[in-house]
Amino acid sequence: MKGRLIAGTAAILAALGASSFYVVSGAYDFGADTPHWALTRVVIETFRDHSIAVRTRDIVVPDFGDEKLVLKGAGQYAAMCVNCHLAPGMKDSEIRPGLYPQPPNLSEKRVDPARAFWIVKHGLKMSGMPAWGLGHDDAAIWSIVAFVTKLPGLSEEHYKQMVADAPPDEEMGGMKMDGDKAGTGGNPAQDKGGAKPVGGHQH
Ligand code: HEC
Repeated sequence: MKGRLIAGTAAILAALGASSFYVVSGAYDFGADTPHWALTRVVIETFRDHSIAVRTRDIVVPDFGDEKLVLKGAGQYAAMCVNCHLAPGMKDSEIRPGLYPQPPNLSEKRVDPARAFWIVKHGLKMSGMPAWGLGHDDAAIWSIVAFVTKLPGLSEEHYKQMVADAPPDEEMGGMKMDGDKAGTGGNPAQDKGGAKPVGGHQH
């Protein structure tokens, strides 16, 4: 028993020593053009998915029936998301092939609305997916999510029409992209009391 304990401790120390050596040796390639090992990917995805599942448990998804809400989201999607997540009729973009992980093509992939809301609001560490909640209120984010749920299966013409019919920026709640100072800033609609939360869920 004691022998096994010593052997086990020695093995753990050896593994720690080897991994520390590996880290400080600089052998690991941090470049985005070298994919993760399969194990690293599984570990990251498992971490990510459990973390998101816990945080989305109590999110109440609002009714997406309001056509205006979806149109608002179309305009915001076209302004903020297409370069990374593409749109109907778009084969690729300048930035997307070089991103790692590669953003999913949301014109083809269906996403769960509560999960999408959380990800759009909070972003994803070490992925390039921004936390849009820093500059946009929940109502604005729900409108984007409402549109994203309609996106797979839209024709190119229908997509372009929706973007063209989207209300102009000043009518959209919390939509200023102008690097306003953090804190109260970046959310003019809220300052004016203009944006009404759509869903039951508020952070
Ligand atoms: C700079 C690139 C970039 C921009 C801009 C961007 N995203 Fe992302 N997005 C990503 C990356 C990278 C991921 C993570 C992919 C992964 O983990 O496999 C991601 C993940 C997501 C996911 C999760 C998809 C899934 O499979 O569960 C959603 C939903 C999403 N983004 C929506 C949006 C929306 C909506 C916008 C615009 C408001 C946006 N993203 C803007 C890069 C971007």
